[in-house]
Amino acid sequence: MKSGLSSSRKTAETTPPKTTPNPTPQSVPLSVPLEVPLLDLRRQYDGIREDVLSAIARVCDSQSFILGPEVEALEREIAALTGAASAVGCASGTEALWLALVAAGVKPGDSVITTAFSFFASASAIVRAGATPVFVDVDPGTLNLDAALVVRQIRTNRPDNLRAILPVHLYGQCADMDAFDRIVQENAKENAGGYSQEFGVAIIEDAAQAIGAEWNGRGAGSLGVTAAFSFYPTKNLSAYGDAGIVTTSRPEMAEHMRQLRNHGSPRRYYHDEFGWNGRMDAIQAAVLRVKLAHIADWNQRRRQHAATYDQVFAESGLTSGRTSNQSSNQLTAPVRLLSRSPKAKHVFHQYVIRAQRRDELRKFLAERKIGSEVYYPLPLHLQPVFSYLGLKAGDLPVSEQAAREVLALPMFPELTEAEIRWVVESLADFYS
Ligand SMILES: Cc1ncc(COP(=O)(O)O)c(C=O)c1O
Repeated sequence: MKSGLSSSRKTAETTPPKTTPNPTPQSVPLSVPLEVPLLDLRRQYDGIREDVLSAIARVCDSQSFILGPEVEALEREIAALTGAASAVGCASGTEALWLALVAAGVKPGDSVITTAFSFFASASAIVRAGATPVFVDVDPGTLNLDAALVVRQIRTNRPDNLRAILPVHLYGQCADMDAFDRIVQENAKENAGGYSQEFGVAIIEDAAQAIGAEWNGRGAGSLGVTAAFSFYPTKNLSAYGDAGIVTTSRPEMAEHMRQLRNHGSPRRYYHDEFGWNGRMDAIQAAVLRVKLAHIADWNQRRRQHAATYDQVFAESGLTSGRTSNQSSNQLTAPVRLLSRSPKAKHVFHQYVIRAQRRDELRKFLAERKIGSEVYYPLPLHLQPVFSYLGLKAGDLPVSEQAAREVLALPMFPELTEAEIRWVVESLADFYS
């Protein structure tokens, strides 16, 4: 153990997050948190309980439960937060992705390029829109869709009817949107030379993990033609059930999405196209509006926790390179941190490390009641359901290696410094 971590014991002793009520000297030291969950929503609820309950009561008093004024107010507030022209509330992040794709013009027979390293919905929404996902590998530093590989894919093996590129702002850090903007501009020129699709190639953001994130000072959600957010209970801004929202720079697309989320119906019992029920509940909107007032502060606290993790990892020596393999003379470290782009304002939906002997480490942490999770253990191109695309192990090596190494550590606004230090100290114990 390096000195930085033993001093952490002092911090933990002065401000213990949870201490053993009647500690036995031989069992757990006084300073050690009893458990550190990956996410503790109860601590958040303790701080906003009264406001949440009165927001729910307001909806019950109104007896207006679906769409309506609460959802409309949330839509205005999210559009303002992200810098998008409009927002359209819907039933989930998955639904938001489907709306974002269809409104941007994706239709059966099209192709959409996306990352192989994301949650399943990033790709399944493409399939539900009738299109074919084209998986491209990720940048080894950020694990976001690698724009250079997207360019290579388009130049060397352009997918048929390529309609859109769907980058995911993984773990709360925006993908390289400058590079994707350049791709759009380049394709716009090619379009003038006979490639006659309505929008050329559209950029659609999967911003499910990135509410409040920025790229070059512009909000996630205002960077593509459309963008999908999830308010799943574990997200930075989370509902008390399922909910999602789409933002867009095009008001006409917002109108289309309002129709699509409501059975393709411009007015009651008249249907212009096949949409279905993708509406948002008013109770979810009311809860989200309470939480929205805190999101800037909560995201800032996540950034501070990430900085603390970074610092304590550096003190621990766990992230320093060591020569472990004399023959190749390769520098390795038991733990590696992901890269952060200076252009990205990260919101640390997750704090993710790459760890040697990751699965054993997870078990060790679980024995100490320290939460962790693997996002994601199997890249999308190797999921059995996508075998029809014909990709095999080895085709997208960066995603495949990431799937073997990534580990998300406890991260939520109310986490304490003592807990962070205990998590890193536990990793150091594992590797010692
Ligand atoms: C990257 C990503 N895309 C899409 C989704 C789907 O959101 P939801 O679970 O709200 O449908 C999620 C959330 O789970 C996600 O993390």
